[in-house]
Amino acid sequence: FPHGAGHGEAAAATAAAGNAASLPVTRLTGDVSGTPDRRFTLTAQEAKVTLSSGKTIDAWTYNGQMPGPELRMRQGELVEVTLINRDIAEGVTIHWHGLDVPNAQDGVAGATQNAVRPGETFVYRFRAEQTGTFWYHSHQDSQEAVQRGLFGPLVVEPAGGQDAGIKDIVAITHQGAVGNDDTVRRERAAPGTQVRLRLINTDDWTIQRYTLAGAPFRVAALDGTDLNGPGELTDTHVELSTGGRADLVFLMPDHPVFLSVGGSKERGILLSADGGGEIPALPKTRAFDPLHYGQPAEVPFDEHTPFDRNFTMVLDNKFGFYDGSFTNLYTINGQVFPKTPMFMVREGERIRVKIVNRGQVDHPMHLHGHHMLVLSRNGERADGSPWWSDTLDVRQGDVYEVAFTADNPGLWMDHCHNLTHAAVGMSMHLMYE
Ligand code: C2O
Ligand code: CU
Repeated sequence: FPHGAGHGEAAAATAAAGNAASLPVTRLTGDVSGTPDRRFTLTAQEAKVTLSSGKTIDAWTYNGQMPGPELRMRQGELVEVTLINRDIAEGVTIHWHGLDVPNAQDGVAGATQNAVRPGETFVYRFRAEQTGTFWYHSHQDSQEAVQRGLFGPLVVEPAGGQDAGIKDIVAITHQGAVGNDDTVRRERAAPGTQVRLRLINTDDWTIQRYTLAGAPFRVAALDGTDLNGPGELTDTHVELSTGGRADLVFLMPDHPVFLSVGGSKERGILLSADGGGEIPALPKTRAFDPLHYGQPAEVPFDEHTPFDRNFTMVLDNKFGFYDGSFTNLYTINGQVFPKTPMFMVREGERIRVKIVNRGQVDHPMHLHGHHMLVLSRNGERADGSPWWSDTLDVRQGDVYEVAFTADNPGLWMDHCHNLTHAAVGMSMHLMYE
């Protein structure tokens, strides 16, 4: 875990500067006027960052730290974030990964705004409508930006605030600039305390495996969306593809509990009454499967829904030329961005998308601005809690059916969150007519 993923609020800012000059005029949706309930300032800057292992790296950071400061807010609040680019020559933005904000606030360079150049400022405003675990990152040359450190955690607490008794821990895994920086972070948690672990995987390429040793747990939320009636699990590990999040909750026992990353005893978080103690033995585990977990609840779609549009995305790879070099390309329906198809929708429509992975590797598909309800995988219907995803890990050979309501007008990205894949083709747009 990189150093600095602490709790609490990030530094609140005082004043907001004006938007950078020469921005395209973009239609705002959602009411973002009024006095903000919460303000943050993020300054993009190069910095030397010391990792928990003691190793020092040259990073691109928000506020000189990696990950960037934890942004914590409450549901319903109007949030204003001022982005200042001090010295990132490539330009920078902030995308609110998983938060369904109005299109103009989505932070995608080249689509919803221009990249913010050194010396420029950009002000984002959105209402935090969903509760849950999210993250933010630059969406200008995302692959390099995220790898180098332009990312951080974002948590939306319920409107009334988090229950005082809950110990809330954000755990971001990130290998990019960090390499294998194995460390064990130690935290205190009194026996009887409710612990909420917010797991966020910001790695590129790596499906991260999390094992909890020493206590039964529940998966309370996936991709920032609560699961309904989650049952207690033991001997189960949770896998997150890049961009994915999971909230694990458990009751702290009177002995140490260890969150292991990657099945390792050298990488993770050890919780105990006094912060000391031995790492418990790691159990033999099987993978958590949200398809059949938790209790069903009402959803806006089922297999009888007359969908207004049905799309198919076939994910694959092939060799070809891209930007002048012969390379492995990642394709959607046989094409690389910007030749990939554009899904055209109208506001209010119900959309079904079939996602087929015909390639040789997994593809965590991230849709901006919307959450997709998983209907089925490989013909097997989802029959547990509604499972809403914004970053769906589509493994080799998998066929998913997902559905969403077109309720957030604009021009949205839909791309693989193995950002190296997105950078060589696997990216497309969802566009409102
Ligand atoms: Cu997390 Cu388009 O990104
Ligand atoms: Cu991919």
